[in-house]
Amino acid sequence: MLEICLDDFLADGIVATLTRGWAGNPLDENVPLRMAGFIHFSALGGDAGLHPHFASCGGTFRPYEKGELTRAVLDCFTRHEGDARKFFRRTPQTNETGRAGVLLLGFSEIARRTGLPLNLAEMGASAGLNLLFDKFHYQIETDHGPLTWGPADSALTISAQWHGPSPPPLQSDIKITGRAGCDLFPVDIGDAEARRTLEAWVWGDMSERRARLLAALTIADQTPLQLVRADAAGWVAAQIMNRPRGQVTVLYHSLVWPYLDVSQRMAIESSFAQASEIVTPDTPLAWLKMDHDHMRPFSHLSYQLWTGENGPEGEQVFIGPCDPHGAELELGDAFAAS
Ligand SMILES: C[S@@+](CC[C@H](N)C(=O)[O-])C[C@H]1O[C@@H](n2cnc3c(N)ncnc32)[C@H](O)[C@@H]1O
Repeated sequence: MLEICLDDFLADGIVATLTRGWAGNPLDENVPLRMAGFIHFSALGGDAGLHPHFASCGGTFRPYEKGELTRAVLDCFTRHEGDARKFFRRTPQTNETGRAGVLLLGFSEIARRTGLPLNLAEMGASAGLNLLFDKFHYQIETDHGPLTWGPADSALTISAQWHGPSPPPLQSDIKITGRAGCDLFPVDIGDAEARRTLEAWVWGDMSERRARLLAALTIADQTPLQLVRADAAGWVAAQIMNRPRGQVTVLYHSLVWPYLDVSQRMAIESSFAQASEIVTPDTPLAWLKMDHDHMRPFSHLSYQLWTGENGPEGEQVFIGPCDPHGAELELGDAFAAS
């Protein structure tokens, strides 16, 4: 697809028309991905020329019939120039429920350590699908044998591998009292176009990811979530200050930290630093990260927990490095003795 776009760009065709005058560096801003996203969005919307080429639409990608695909792609851009321009204004945005296969261990540990229900608050939640982590079924391979967790009849099964020391037993029943999330661009899955856009960012040949997304969407259709359009920095401060009693408020994020600028990161860190001074055993606070940070250039799972009894520093637990899509987690020293 990108070859087709490049050839047409060099030939000064519709792709050149669409991208001419892009303010900023088109490569830094993922313009090629935005183009591929629009074509997949159109295919999912039933574009008759594109449809037969996408596995996600029941078709087959036939590289040897590039001419046919080229005509379909360029025809789509030409007929829908205005829609394409509108679509290009969006940055690629996914919501990967595979990450729940790693987050689960953090949620379970926070529930085990506090013995309290979890009040979930996710920054950069996208469509908020991981706020429903307890509604998924998990099949985890570990070096010490398989683990399962969650409702066996769930529409979605998450598979992951956890390597290294034996993980602590997963809490069998994790109670969730709140599911709130913020995003600069929250995805409203009740809006057909927004939903199709989210589907479009999972490329047509990624059948496993697509199946996960569709299953998670059916679960989300049945569970109300509180998603707001807000910058994480200010929203986090409000969540921390308004913690309900008798539950542990778990602020968490997956693959969001690299998107924040220095001032946003500092604002979030300072909200936690201020709150940690006044945490009580009745309103404990946790910060769970499955993310990159400035200390480590790879994804990792870690959490910080303030119980009201462990001082303003709280306790920081580095669980281990993980695959950014959640397929694998390497358990570190935190569980070596357990
Ligand atoms: C790579 S996606 C990850 C989405 C989700 N956490 C997941 O794991 O599937 C990053 C998300 O962060 C959001 N985001 C980026 N900057 C943000 C900010 N300052 N405040 C809130 N959300 C932000 C983006 O809109 C996007 O939905």
